Amino acid sequence: MSIRINPSVLNCDFMRIGEELDRIADADRAHIDVMDNHFVPNLTFGPSMVEQMARRSPIPLDAHLMITDADRHAVAFAEAGAESVTFHLEAAQAPVRLARELRKAGAQVGVALRPATPVEPLLDILGEFDMVLVMTVEPGFGGQSFLDSMLPKIRRVREAISAANLELSVQVDGGIKRETIGRAAEAGADVFVAGSAVYSVDDAAAEIAALRRLAAEHSH
Ligand code: DX5
Ligand code: ZN
Repeated sequence: MSIRINPSVLNCDFMRIGEELDRIADADRAHIDVMDNHFVPNLTFGPSMVEQMARRSPIPLDAHLMITDADRHAVAFAEAGAESVTFHLEAAQAPVRLARELRKAGAQVGVALRPATPVEPLLDILGEFDMVLVMTVEPGFGGQSFLDSMLPKIRRVREAISAANLELSVQVDGGIKRETIGRAAEAGADVFVAGSAVYSVDDAAAEIAALRRLAAEHSH
């Protein structure tokens, strides 16, 4: 398992998005939260904005689609140049077909679970994905508190991946900061999204380094 820190730009200064992306050049990927005001009560970027960010960013993009009708709209984000595209299981009619379409479009594929969505429906189709995203807050906004109640689900996902002899990443998103990242790593996560923790401090690079060190100390 290789640890990755993917800062979310959701709460950065959008008037200076290029420089805000430069501030996280030491991170692994930039996490881009796409919201449509239907799946979540918030609205952010479309494919053309993602395409511009992909061209400008010093690191690859990890697009997290919080949109209804993922089947219809997700591939546009792969075509826009996101290296990885994650859609929500709750928003996909045909997750296997969609995963294959995304791969064909050249993206790595993640599947996300809201806090109340169980992992069991994924168990037989894990091999279709590169990553499972276990949401550790209700999606929609940055700055919320990490849900410790999601730790057993992180553990179950990691165990299911090992039992199937697969090599998927387990991403956690929501409330990740110095105080919580160790618990998520210990439970089996290896890709960590951190929004407010990274963008609320002056030295984003130092924060990314601290998060990386803490995750490494607690992972096994
Ligand atoms: C929430 C988004 C997150 C958010 C994380 O719906 O998916 O990526 O930006 O922000 P923090 O790290 O502040 O909880
Ligand atoms: Zn996200």
